[in-house]
Amino acid sequence: MIAGGSVRINGTSVRELGTLVNAGDRVEVAGVPVELPAAPTYLIFNKPLGVVTTMRDPHGRRSIADFLVDRPRVFPVGRLDYDTAGLLFLTDDGELAHRLLHPSFGVDKTYRAAIAGRLSSDDVRRLLAGLVMNDGRAAGTRVRVLAVRRDRSLVDVTIHEGRNRQVRRMFETLNHPVLELTRTRFGPLNLGALPPGRIRELTGKEIEALRRHRRPPDESPRTTPPEVMQ
Ligand code: URA
Repeated sequence: MIAGGSVRINGTSVRELGTLVNAGDRVEVAGVPVELPAAPTYLIFNKPLGVVTTMRDPHGRRSIADFLVDRPRVFPVGRLDYDTAGLLFLTDDGELAHRLLHPSFGVDKTYRAAIAGRLSSDDVRRLLAGLVMNDGRAAGTRVRVLAVRRDRSLVDVTIHEGRNRQVRRMFETLNHPVLELTRTRFGPLNLGALPPGRIRELTGKEIEALRRHRRPPDESPRTTPPEVMQ
């Protein structure tokens, strides 16, 4: 096409093979501009409570779209309940999203749960061994107890699956209803100190870590020796 004279750079026809272009140069082939696909966007959003993880809510509730007005192309990878806060990963990289969402992949996600009542070591053992719920067994792969009081306990729990209201239902099965729930980690991504309602771009390192992320073979559910801190 170059030799045939149908390629123009900044309006000038070029015939030399190997001609280099710079960012910002306008390249046309037979009069049609050549557009490079925009680089994908990768974002972390700290979803506040009271926001639905959809682009639109038929009931008029606040949705994540209200926070993404200047980022119309991204979509959430996974979802958080209306009454759950914390880390949502958003992107327009469909291939990566598809891989991360595939059930066989099972990205590990950590939730910080404030629960009613005193969590016992037997509760922790049951969490790790797997609880029978109405849609099958569910287990945490890591449990870290941060505080235990008579009326309230604070615990970090990591799961690989993402069944509907899974963490809440796991604690309900243990008779410790969840009072507050925040997702603090999604695979290699950490919420850190990002305030609720704020969005930030991933760093190059985080994008790389996400692309390379694999569930560690020794973290398959129910086979892991429990990591319990009390
Ligand atoms: N588990 C829940 O119960 N709720 C969420 O939003 C995510 C995981």
